[in-house]
Amino acid sequence: MQKSVLGYGSIFHKEDITRLPEISDTSFLGNHTLFYAGRYAIKYIIDCILKERDIATLWMPNYYCPYVKNWLEEKRSSIKYYDIDPFDANAQINWKQFDASDVVLTNNYWGIKANPIPSGTRPLIIEDHSHGWLSEGCVQSKADFCIASLRKTLPIPLSGIAWKPKNGNCTIPLLPINGAAVDHNTDPMTRSWNLMDDAMTKKANCSDPKEKSEFLSSYSQGEMLLRNTQEIFEVQNIHKELIRKALFKDYNSFKKQNLEYIHQNLAPSTAYKLLYLEHPVPFGLLLVFKDKETMASCKHYLIDNAIYPAELWPKNTIAQKYKHLLNLHVDFRYTTDDMRYLVAVINRWSSENHDTDMQKTSEISEKLAP
Ligand SMILES: Cc1ncc(COP(=O)(O)O)c(C=O)c1O
Repeated sequence: MQKSVLGYGSIFHKEDITRLPEISDTSFLGNHTLFYAGRYAIKYIIDCILKERDIATLWMPNYYCPYVKNWLEEKRSSIKYYDIDPFDANAQINWKQFDASDVVLTNNYWGIKANPIPSGTRPLIIEDHSHGWLSEGCVQSKADFCIASLRKTLPIPLSGIAWKPKNGNCTIPLLPINGAAVDHNTDPMTRSWNLMDDAMTKKANCSDPKEKSEFLSSYSQGEMLLRNTQEIFEVQNIHKELIRKALFKDYNSFKKQNLEYIHQNLAPSTAYKLLYLEHPVPFGLLLVFKDKETMASCKHYLIDNAIYPAELWPKNTIAQKYKHLLNLHVDFRYTTDDMRYLVAVINRWSSENHDTDMQKTSEISEKLAP
C-alpha cells in the first residue's frame, strides 16, 4: 500500500496478517455465530429472543449509526431511543425508563465504556462492541448477548459476530441459522464479499490517484448490498475460515502505542476535546467538537492533507455540549512515523484556526521537524 497516494483512511487493504500477534485469553467468548455484518447479528439475536418470548419495545441509544437505525426500522415498528452521553465513559444508563419485557441495546462507545448490568428485574440486554472488539468492556461483559461489527477491526471483506458472554447468565440460546439453500453465484452476501475483496485488493496495489476511485466504487457497491438486504445469510465456510484466522489478533496493542504517541504530542486546543484514556484503549484518535462548523473545518483540512476521518454520526442530534466526533484511524497499518504526520497536520489546523497552547505547539513543531 502506498500511503503517499492513498492517505490515511478506513478501508483496509489486503495484506498478510500472520505478522500480527494473537491474544492469549479468548475464554470470554461463549456460544457464538459469525455473520457477514454487525446488523445481521443484532437481528438474529432479536429473532432468537422472539422464539422464547415477546419483546414490548426494542430500545436503542439515540447516538448510533443512522444507517443501522434505518435498516432495523424497516422491519420493526416498536423501536424507541434512549439518551446517553457517548463521550463520557462514566455516563450511566437510566434503567428506570425500561420495562422488564423490553430489550435494550447498549453500546460500548469507542471501546472505552463499560455498561454495568442493573440488579433486580430488568430487560434483556444486547451489548454492542463494534468499536471495542477485544476491549476490556468486551471481554468482561455480563450482558445477555453481545454483538460486534468485526469488519471495523478485522482486515476482512465482511464480518460480524453475535455471542453469549461467558460472564452472562441468560438462558435463551443462540440457535443455529436455518436459512434456505442459496446460490453463491448470485446471493447478495457473496456478491458484497467479492466487491469488498476486490476493493481491498485494488487498494493494496494502487499506485495512481486515478485507481483510488475504482476501489472506492467497489466498496460502496458492496456496502449498498448490505443496506438493501434484510435476509440473514449463513456465512460460507471459506469465509468463516478467513474470519477465524483474523478474530483474535491483538489489534489493540498497535492502537495503544500509536495513541500514546499522539497523546504526548498533540498540542492542547480549544477547538476540540481529545477523548483519550491510557486504559482501556480507544477505537481510534477521537476528536470531539461542540459545533458542526468547527468539526467540518477540521475534517476538510484533514482531507486536504490525505487524512480521511470517519464522522460519527452525521445525523445524530444529542443534548450534550460536545456532539460531533471525528475518528482518525490509528490501527495496525500505521507506525509512529504516520502518527507524527497526523499530529503535525492537526496541530497546524489548530494553530491556524484556534487558540492553542502556542508554547506547546512550537515545542512540538520543533520536535516534529524533519
Ligand atoms: C456501533 C455500530 N454497531 C453496529 C453497526 C452495524 O455494523 P455493520 O455495518 O457491520 O452491519 C455499526 C455500523 O456502522 C456501528 O457503528
